[in-house]
Amino acid sequence: MKGNTDMAVEKAIVLAGGAGTRLYPMTAVGSKQLLPVYNKPMIYYSISTLMLLGIRKFLVITTPLDIDRFKALLGDGTKWKIEISYASQSAPRGIAEALIIGREFQARDSLVLMLGDNIFYGKLDRIRQAFKSFKDGALVFGYPVKNPSRYGVLGFGPDGRVESIEEKPREPKSRYAVPGLYIYDSTAPERAASLDPSGRGELEITDLNKGYLVQGQLEATLLGRGMAWLDAGTFMSLLDATRFIEAVESRQGLMIGCVEEVAIKQGLIKTGEDYERMVESIPSGPYRSYVEMVWREMSART
Ligand code: DAU
Repeated sequence: MKGNTDMAVEKAIVLAGGAGTRLYPMTAVGSKQLLPVYNKPMIYYSISTLMLLGIRKFLVITTPLDIDRFKALLGDGTKWKIEISYASQSAPRGIAEALIIGREFQARDSLVLMLGDNIFYGKLDRIRQAFKSFKDGALVFGYPVKNPSRYGVLGFGPDGRVESIEEKPREPKSRYAVPGLYIYDSTAPERAASLDPSGRGELEITDLNKGYLVQGQLEATLLGRGMAWLDAGTFMSLLDATRFIEAVESRQGLMIGCVEEVAIKQGLIKTGEDYERMVESIPSGPYRSYVEMVWREMSART
């Protein structure tokens, strides 16, 4: 998909703050979302997935301590022909606070909120369709996992409609976990601002979603086997994600989460000049060679 003129959702917040306590001491002096997942910083995976889904405007929210490092890594997005702006969250007061911080960025539009430690790989068709057809309310996804208790979990009524959404339930009502990828209409910041902090002192994203649910305004799209969803917030899940990416990349010789490749294949990088500008700061080495190969292959085709 190249153009995104028919998109219902064009903006995304990528939330990349938090204390990263479960990854201490790796996060003692730097953001979790800058840690490597195999051969790329974690945030490359969320940015590139959202680009594949047609998003071109990004707000990256991170901590006051890390914001300059994200700016140094991603810049304002010009090199990839996207727009990236930044905001900071002074303390980890909950995922839903991202919507309050992003209020002006969202303006009157619908928007995607994605957690910077979530990785999606594979057939994105259902997600793409959800982005395209979204009108109002809120939309979450459901992904079957073996250990749903670690996540937000969906419960379904006899007609298959979502009946409940619970955060880390001891007795999950289904196998369907809610990944950190949500679509909200323009009422979300106001709703988030009226939430009460949970027992752990956070504005819970699950409480925001519950608010939509009780008003009959929460949709859920279930995702299946054709797609992998991983998170990378613990030692084991980070290692699993690294192993997964490495296995697929080594087998296929294709990268996952290479932002430059996505920019080329989405038709954002069109001219030799665009390309040169994009790669000028990439040092010689395997990453640059890969991007060069992608560009050569694409140029040969056109
Ligand atoms: O990964 C999906 C899960 O993410 C969902 O299924 C859950 O419903 C949702 O609550 C969330 O659960 P986690 O336990 O993973 O949330 P955590 O507090 O670890 O935060 C997720 C990411 O968001 C993490 O990378 C840090 C970032 N974050 C978190 C908070 C609370 C922030 O940037 N700011 C925050 O205030």
